[in-house]
Amino acid sequence: MIDLKNIIEKLLRERSLSVEEYEQLIEHRTPEIQELLRCEADKIRKTIYGNKVYIRGLIEVSNICKNNCYYCGIRGENTNCQRYRLTADEILECCDKGYELGFRTFVMQGGEDGFFTDEVMCDLVREIKSRYPDCAVTLSLGERSYESYKRLYNAGADRYLLRHEAVSSQLYGRLHPKEMKIENRLQCLENLKKIGFQTGCGFMVGAPHQTARHIAEDLKFIENFKPQMCGIGPFIPHKDTTFKDYPKGSAELTCFLLSIVRIVLPSVLLPATTALGTAENDGRERGILSGANVVMPNLSPESVRAKYALYDNKISTGAESAQHIAELKAKMARIGYDVVCDRGDYVEK
Ligand code: 5AD
Repeated sequence: MIDLKNIIEKLLRERSLSVEEYEQLIEHRTPEIQELLRCEADKIRKTIYGNKVYIRGLIEVSNICKNNCYYCGIRGENTNCQRYRLTADEILECCDKGYELGFRTFVMQGGEDGFFTDEVMCDLVREIKSRYPDCAVTLSLGERSYESYKRLYNAGADRYLLRHEAVSSQLYGRLHPKEMKIENRLQCLENLKKIGFQTGCGFMVGAPHQTARHIAEDLKFIENFKPQMCGIGPFIPHKDTTFKDYPKGSAELTCFLLSIVRIVLPSVLLPATTALGTAENDGRERGILSGANVVMPNLSPESVRAKYALYDNKISTGAESAQHIAELKAKMARIGYDVVCDRGDYVEK
C-alpha cells in the first residue's frame, strides 16, 4: 500500500521527493490531489510574486536548424518547412514595437542556425540593451560552447532557455538523433548557470515513449539543478515528424507538474506555455492558476508566425497590437492576476 498522504506531506514540508515518490505521485494523481497541490502552489507563488504575471515578448528569429530532433516541426530534415531568418533590423523592429506595448523582456528564440554567430548575436544584444537599458534579454538558441555563452553574457544577455528535454539518456536517445547527447545538454546548462545567466531548463509532457518514471526523473533533475526558469508544456504532434501519430500530451498533467515545480522551487519563473492553449481554449489561464507566473506572447512578424511551427496548430497569441495585450490583461484580471510591465527577474529567497 503506497502512502500518498505521506508523500504529499513530505513534498510540502521538504520541497523534495525521491524519484520513486515523484513517480507515485504522478501515477496516483487524482483531481483531489491535483486541486490540493494547485492551491498550495498558488499560495507559495503569491508569497513571492504576489498576483503578478510577467510577460515576455517572444521573437522567433529563425526556423533554420542544424539539428533533427524527431518531435520538432522545424527539424533540419523537414523539407516541408519553409525556412526564414529575420534580419537584425526586423528583430529590432519587434523590440521597438514590444517596448511600446509594455514588454520589458525580449526572448530571442530560434533553431540552431549557423548565421547567428557570436558576433552577430552579441551586436544584436548590445544594440537592444543600449536602446532599452531597462529591459532583460533572454536567449534561446540551443547548444553553444562555454566561450560562446560567455560572450553573449558579456554582451549583456541576462537569461538563457535551454530545455533539457529528458534527463534519461534512454528517452533522450529516442527523441533525438545519435549525435545529440544528454550529457552535452546538461553540460550546457551547467555552463550557463556558472556564467551567471538566469537559466531555464524544461521538458515536454507526454513526449513519445515518456513514462511516469521519466517525468519523475525530470522532476528530480529540476529539484537538484534549481533552474531560475522552467519550461514545461505538453507534447503536440507535428505532421512532418516521426511522431505525427502520437497523441498530444495532457494539459491536465502539465498543470499538475507546474504545481509540483512551484512547490519544489518557490521562486522559479514558470511560464504557462503556448502549447497549453489550443485554438478553442487558451489553457494558459489554467497554467497560471496552477502556479505559473509568466506568459510569452508572440512578437514575431505576422509573416513568419506560421513558419515557426514546432508543432501543429500552434496558437500564435499575437502581441502585436495593444488590443491583444489589453485582452490578455483582461483575461488574467478575470482570474485575479495582474499582467505587469516589468523585467520580472528571478527573486532569490
Ligand atoms: N510539441 C511540443 N513542444 C515542442 N517543442 C518542440 N517540438 C515540440 C512539439 N512537437 C518544444 C521543445 C523545445 C521547445 C523550443 O519547444 O521542448 O525545447
